[in-house]
Amino acid sequence: MIIEEIFGNLTRLETKRLILRKMTLYDAQDMYEYASDPEVAKYVTWDYHRSIDDSISFLKSTIQKYDNKEVSEWGIIYKKSNKFIGTCGYLWWSLAHSRAEIAYTLSRRYWNKGLMTEAVKEVIKYGFEKMVLNRIEARCMVRNIASQRVMEKFGMKSEGIMREVLFAKGFYHDLKVYSLLKKEYRREKN
Ligand SMILES: CC(C)(COP(=O)(O)OP(=O)(O)OC[C@H]1O[C@@H](n2cnc3c(N)ncnc32)[C@H](O)[C@@H]1OP(=O)(O)O)[C@@H](O)C(=O)NCCC(=O)NCCS
Repeated sequence: MIIEEIFGNLTRLETKRLILRKMTLYDAQDMYEYASDPEVAKYVTWDYHRSIDDSISFLKSTIQKYDNKEVSEWGIIYKKSNKFIGTCGYLWWSLAHSRAEIAYTLSRRYWNKGLMTEAVKEVIKYGFEKMVLNRIEARCMVRNIASQRVMEKFGMKSEGIMREVLFAKGFYHDLKVYSLLKKEYRREKN
């Protein structure tokens, strides 16, 4: 399986309440609405969006990845309102080791309704079944309890803390590392 085949034409995914699809520049206003919230950006590497131009830049760089057939994320659409409410997907994919890292962000208005769990379930399924991964990884700041809960709900195992591994927003941050292996995913499914 090669990266260009999978990410050259990113498949649209659907769950009960969500559609996961490619992002477009038309999503800029919706993205700015949630990405300009400092609470949303509190535990991520990117800074909250100061103007809609920041959202446009982010979307342009994602669209560039789609065009270059690189590993890229899906936009999350809330079916009920057809609103763009977040992003999730893979940050990188090591073909040699069949492993990739997952990431996600959701608008604060939609937190704690199980929505990211719903989206990540499809992204994990896509990883093991379409990308044929052996290991899916995730990292988060140690104080990001909501993100850890999402990972734990899938049976992802905590592997420990990488101390001061990330320099972001003027500080060194500890990151908690999680992983899920294909054999554990199979066991969970059966
Ligand atoms: C992390 C994030 C995507 C979770 O999205 P979500 O749709 O709210 O997640 P879910 O509702 O599926 O699950 C969240 C879980 O965390 C729990 N939770 C949330 N905040 C919590 C807290 N402060 N303490 C304990 N549990 C908490 C919820 O109760 C829920 O668990 P439950 O289903 O067992 O009740 C969302 O909070 C977000 O976008 N945060 C900002 C961006 C970010 O940090 N991204 C991750 C970077 S690693």
